[in-house]
Amino acid sequence: MTSLLAAHPLTLGTMYFGTTVPARIAHDVLDRARDLGALSWDTANIYAHWVGRDGGESERTLGAWFDSRGPIARDEVTLATKIGNLPVAGGPGPGGTTGLGASAVRRQVTDSLQRLRTDRVEVLYAHIDDLHTPLDETLGALSDLIDEGLVREIAASNYSAERLHAALSVPTAHRFTALQQRFTYLRPAPGADLSPHVQLDDAVAHLAHRSGLTLVGYSPLLSGAYTRADRPIPEQYRTPALGPALLALGEVGSEVDLDAGQTVLAWMTQRGRPVRPVAGVSSVGQIEDAWRAVTTELDPDQIDRLDRARIVGPAAR
Ligand SMILES: NC(=O)c1ccc[n+]([C@@H]2O[C@H](COP(=O)([O-])OP(=O)(O)OC[C@H]3O[C@@H](n4cnc5c(N)ncnc54)[C@H](OP(=O)(O)O)[C@@H]3O)[C@@H](O)[C@H]2O)c1
Repeated sequence: MTSLLAAHPLTLGTMYFGTTVPARIAHDVLDRARDLGALSWDTANIYAHWVGRDGGESERTLGAWFDSRGPIARDEVTLATKIGNLPVAGGPGPGGTTGLGASAVRRQVTDSLQRLRTDRVEVLYAHIDDLHTPLDETLGALSDLIDEGLVREIAASNYSAERLHAALSVPTAHRFTALQQRFTYLRPAPGADLSPHVQLDDAVAHLAHRSGLTLVGYSPLLSGAYTRADRPIPEQYRTPALGPALLALGEVGSEVDLDAGQTVLAWMTQRGRPVRPVAGVSSVGQIEDAWRAVTTELDPDQIDRLDRARIVGPAAR
């Protein structure tokens, strides 16, 4: 089954809605996203507990928007949330989190639907792999939610190739249809530590492709580092390919009137094997920028130049 996410060139990341992005501004962004047709929205039951109160802030902010805009607006949106990664005292999951045991899955989904003020989500992600719970228990619990109509699809985030393969081999009625990992145009240095994030590496990308999973990439803009002097490119991405890669982004971007960050989004969604970006935005201007990026067509030669520049170092160019 093809994921609903495959129909969307962009997913709107709402991680800071209701915390550092006040609800009023978040609702303006959601209204503008709706006008534009940017109708895939991504949240989690953990956003953003590290700057907020309980991690339900983003879901509550979306819920208030659905409540005020009505059922037609809700039906237009492909809504994804994630469970399993919320820190709780004595939590059984990895690092003291809620985890993905059968009863924890059920409880978290019930809570998320309540905060989102909806009766279902289109996509439910296992936010992190739970090594403490048998995969057949997790997959069985997630699959049941689809049969009950609470969830349309299930998906994985932050899985290794080996564990994703094992998860896809569990004989449940429904299996993962999408994979969300960290991904941007720049490639991190081999072995770079991005934890707790899990990079979309070649092994997991190939497996996902072979298995027909839709690929989704989070943190595509490196928090604005492609364009903002106050946000340096993170150390993990300072490889020999950095100079040529930034040069190619600048050249192609100027040909299509996009800045470097926008060019990253356009490339991700139009490359041979698309990795649809989940871009974080904190203003109406930023959702407009992101939407213009993914709806600007790159030609095959531009895609090819970008593909090559991120891998080939200066000596080989
Ligand atoms: N599955 C997972 O484990 C996981 C992990 C992390 C994130 N996510 C998802 O991915 C989404 C995006 O993650 P992220 O916030 O780390 O990624 P990001 O897209 O790399 O960065 C977003 C930030 O970039 C800046 N920005 C956006 N548009 C810009 C523009 N046109 N010009 C300059 N700067 C711009 C903004 O910073 P300011 O707000 O400071 O202006 C924005 O908050 C999240 O909302 C969440 O839904 C998933």
